[in-house]
Amino acid sequence: MSENSPKVSMILLGPPGSGKGTQAEKLKSYFEIPHISTGDMLREALRDGTELGLKAAGFMRSGKLVPDELVVELVGERLGKDDCSKGFILDGFPRNIFQAEGLEKIFGSSEEMVFSAVSLDVDEDIIVNRLSSRRVCEGCGAVYNTKLNPPKDDLRCDRCGGKIVQREDDREVTIRKRLQVYRDETSPIKEFYREKGILREVPGDGDVEEVFERILGALGDDRC
Ligand code: AP5
Repeated sequence: MSENSPKVSMILLGPPGSGKGTQAEKLKSYFEIPHISTGDMLREALRDGTELGLKAAGFMRSGKLVPDELVVELVGERLGKDDCSKGFILDGFPRNIFQAEGLEKIFGSSEEMVFSAVSLDVDEDIIVNRLSSRRVCEGCGAVYNTKLNPPKDDLRCDRCGGKIVQREDDREVTIRKRLQVYRDETSPIKEFYREKGILREVPGDGDVEEVFERILGALGDDRC
């Protein structure tokens, strides 16, 4: 992206396993803006045994949402960092109307910033299949899939050599719970962004490159 490119900020919406994290990493490289994943930040807090991690642990293990005030504060702090001044990609936040309104308060209404909410839509059968075969690196968070893009060595990360593990919430019963939470609590925010005229709905099936091209196409109008 050139110096004069407009600042781009986006929210990636979509059920668990719709590919938000995978696409956010590609968008991060393309637009050179940070990828902010509340799930990753909470897992890091959990690993580090911080107060936030201890408070979040039980909710995450059972597939429920972590209390709003904790997450809104976390995102507020992160968005205040210098690297967000050129834009950012929010992955996994907001997850309900309260958080969406919290974001408006944090973010204000910068007129220079192009803001889009991209919703990735994928059938639940595909999701369960993707998530039960997802593996992640405990060290750097790299995401693999045992069927589509396994690490070269089953136990070690290609990128950093860290240990490859299955996320605790990627067992089928927890995946089903997370999908239910998405349907009940998160999907209504699509309407919130539709009413604001910034919702871009993108089919999230097909291969990773295909979905990426669709997202760029959907953002096209917002970037002109
Ligand atoms: P979080 O980490 O945000 O999980 P999630 O939203 O459930 O999303 P996932 O990370 O499971 O999926 P994804 O859409 O990123 O898919 P990915 O790209 O990895 O949240 C975890 C927990 O933290 C929550 O349950 C909650 O407790 C808490 N939390 C987080 N944010 C919160 C908030 N704001 N408020 C309250 N609580 C919060 O892809 C999945 C798999 O599919 C991978 O194996 C990947 O390789 C593969 N894949 C990706 N794209 C494709 C493709 N096109 N074709 C085939 N395979 C693909």
